[in-house]
Amino acid sequence: MSRLIVVSNRVAKTDGATKGSEGGLAVGVMAAMEKAGGVWFGWSGKVENKNEPAKHEVRGNIEYVTVNLRQSEYNQYYKGYANSVLWPLFHQRPELMRYSDADLSGYLQANNKFANELLKIIQPDDTIWIHDYHLIPLGKMLRDAGIKNSIGFFLHTPFPSLDLLRTVPGYQKILKGLLHYDLVGFQTQADHMGFCMGVAQGLGGEILKNDRLRFEDRHCTARVYPISVETSALPEAATAGEASDEYKRLYNSLADRKLIIGVDRLDYSKGLVQRFQAYDKLLGHYKEFIRKAVYLQISPTSRGDVQAYGDLAKRIDREAGHIIGTYADFDWMPLRYLNRGFRRRTILAMYRLANVGLVTPLKDGMNLVAKEYVAAQNPENPGVLVLSELAGAADEFDSAVIVNPYDVSGITGGLAQALNMPLDERIDRWRKMMDVLEQHDIHAWQKSFLEDLHSLTHPQIAQAVN
Ligand code: G6P
Repeated sequence: MSRLIVVSNRVAKTDGATKGSEGGLAVGVMAAMEKAGGVWFGWSGKVENKNEPAKHEVRGNIEYVTVNLRQSEYNQYYKGYANSVLWPLFHQRPELMRYSDADLSGYLQANNKFANELLKIIQPDDTIWIHDYHLIPLGKMLRDAGIKNSIGFFLHTPFPSLDLLRTVPGYQKILKGLLHYDLVGFQTQADHMGFCMGVAQGLGGEILKNDRLRFEDRHCTARVYPISVETSALPEAATAGEASDEYKRLYNSLADRKLIIGVDRLDYSKGLVQRFQAYDKLLGHYKEFIRKAVYLQISPTSRGDVQAYGDLAKRIDREAGHIIGTYADFDWMPLRYLNRGFRRRTILAMYRLANVGLVTPLKDGMNLVAKEYVAAQNPENPGVLVLSELAGAADEFDSAVIVNPYDVSGITGGLAQALNMPLDERIDRWRKMMDVLEQHDIHAWQKSFLEDLHSLTHPQIAQAVN
């Protein structure tokens, strides 16, 4: 077995103690790597202008190799091109893009720094798996430096249609960058289609058989690998979380009221404004929920120094204030809105307690909160998932209560339906979603990607084994 080197901008260092703002990549990759082991290379999370060597640290099965970012790299690469151009673009919000040539060049420089550090540790047999939009050019940089290893890439976010992609100057470079990988993985068919059409119509490349793409002298394979969760481990973790002080206090404070839970980084892609408005409508139109429901929204601050995120935080504060001012009583708080995270197992226990999991992103690659909410439920009395049709997870979860995240009244209706759903229907819907998660967990996700990568780059060995 060759050694696996996973590369991502964000590296999750611990499982249980995370504060919950890391997002799906860190959660998913951590669950996959904890079992398989390997090297995890990425940003240390620190901004430091001194030139320090990469830090090596072994924890369990994983060797973490991390580098600091200089202030200019943080500004131009992380805050700039990655999170003020690619993130809004890939989440269908071009009006929030802030493009500058300087940020693009900082993005390339930071990728180059990652490449130079990786060159120090890559051995000839290693399999290299690069993750997410921060690091699209890295594969080409490694190839240019003579690296011949298998290199795969997985995009955790959506991938836009060509029409949208064209809004960013130099969009061809994004497509060409991805073509340097042996295998490129997407979350959904639509993302995969966006890329293939981009290559064919935006570059004039060819779509060949077996998911192969060709442009000039480059070939790559692009397929769909929907990310998942560690299905079998989550119920036990939720039970462990029930022992926490926070869980007990939440439980006692509900006093038999129904709990709606939302857990999202404070990000404009998550549809929080529409979600709060839908809850406002629920209390306005369905009087039976007055004093009988509590909505707990846990939203740790994320990328707070990017302007669009600061603006969103103010907007959400106003919506929350409006709901509380309108409906709260001296002994009932309809909304509990928190800008901080909790240990994962505590969150999982909260999911199990909640009658409704409310997951309504305006656009999301997959959304692992939706999958975790389902996996954490009590099989005898499961809660109901209200899910945006624009989250990747909706492709697999057609038995959730599916809503359009822009349709405030539709979300209100979905919430009322979920809160009133009889037990047999709840069990039936939950079972169908759980079947998906049992057949396809995070380990199956990792295995299918890496096996495909291996057989694409070692065709003779794969044939002999078959
Ligand atoms: C999403 C992205 C990840 C990212 C995470 C948290 O899940 O796909 O790449 O790590 O958000 O965002 P942050 O900017 O804090 O790393």
